[in-house]
Amino acid sequence: DYNSDKRHRAASDEAQHRPAGTLSTRRQLYERNFPLYKQPVEVGFFSLDSRRNFFNDQRQLRYYVEPRKSPDFNLRDGYTSRFVKRDDGVKEKLDHVLKWILANRDKIQTRDQTSSSSCALGVDFVTWRGHLTKVLTTPYETQEGWMLAASKFRGTIYISEVETEAARANRMTRSERQEEMMYWGYKFEQYTCADDVDGTPDPGGVVNTNEAFCTVVQTRLADHKLLFSGEVDCRVKDPDAPPAPGCYVELKTSAEICTPKQRSNFHRYKLLKWWAQSFLPGVPQIVAGFRDHDGIVVSIETFQTSKISHLIKNEINCWKPTVCMNFCNDFLSFVKSVVKEDNPRLVYLFEWDPHRDVTYTVHRDSPFTFLPDWYVKDTRS
Ligand code: A3P
Ligand code: MG
Ligand code: MG
Repeated sequence: DYNSDKRHRAASDEAQHRPAGTLSTRRQLYERNFPLYKQPVEVGFFSLDSRRNFFNDQRQLRYYVEPRKSPDFNLRDGYTSRFVKRDDGVKEKLDHVLKWILANRDKIQTRDQTSSSSCALGVDFVTWRGHLTKVLTTPYETQEGWMLAASKFRGTIYISEVETEAARANRMTRSERQEEMMYWGYKFEQYTCADDVDGTPDPGGVVNTNEAFCTVVQTRLADHKLLFSGEVDCRVKDPDAPPAPGCYVELKTSAEICTPKQRSNFHRYKLLKWWAQSFLPGVPQIVAGFRDHDGIVVSIETFQTSKISHLIKNEINCWKPTVCMNFCNDFLSFVKSVVKEDNPRLVYLFEWDPHRDVTYTVHRDSPFTFLPDWYVKDTRS
């Protein structure tokens, strides 16, 4: 059972002389029963406009329009002439999520209503979905490490990513081809999304990657109460579709699959990331555009998020959802055991590099501090 697993791991940590205050990412340690993960509930949403301004509404939500049988999508179209790229050197940290919280405190569900009426949020963690996706895939990641900053404020732990030196170096030295290919995913969204429920896509328009619609969900992983936000690409048009997040659709592009080796790699690496990203907020379907080397979409396929783990079962040594979720559960427990001081200016920096354990360092009033004054100053009237 779960507790004897924990005892077993503590004993094996000792045997391996692993220092206290680290967390192993070895897959075998996380092969337990699937932990409780409550159905995520949307508690709100917000939009970011073409200049990255925050709006407490769903003005940027788009509608999925199923493409024709043989679409002629050229993902390279408009890259040089109709593309406004978000400045990825600007680090927004949790700011937009915090703006949502300040404007929507009353919408956060607390079982114990006494805590919602005072200062505490009644959740254990606040973060971005994308940060949790990185945590989920950690036991299988061999290329990219991460740094996650954590601060406790009024009983809630906030987790915000810090760009690693390696990620920064990659960002600064991307090839022209890599730069262009990052556009292809957004161009696919433009071919398949309409701004209005009765509208049609406008492939002649400008692709502006500042624009975003984000859902805010609450859920619970074992005994961790979570509130996180994630970008949502679009929703289905059907007004009778299940309520959000059940009506949302994730859009993806991927290289066309021509060989068994390519299929295996797609299952082993890409579907892991796609599954983790959509499973977390409860997005039920993923529409994938498979494209050739020249950015022409050759086929479109829909994946049910809940069926992805069955699709991959034939791969030898493949990833397992239970390992991802148990690791996330243990990581959050580890963070809770470390982040003890309630102080928004104190940052516990958790770091992980592939083939290493998770470690942490503590930073007081440093450049890592990420909870802004406008959030931590008491604005209750
Ligand atoms: P693809 O998903 O087709 O790769 P998302 O899929 O999460 O909605 O992101 C939309 C697009 O942003 C991606 O399309 C890709 O083009 C780009 N993108 C997202 N994350 C990226 C990353 N880490 N590196 C490069 N491009 C990224
Ligand atoms: Mg997206
Ligand atoms: Mg997408």
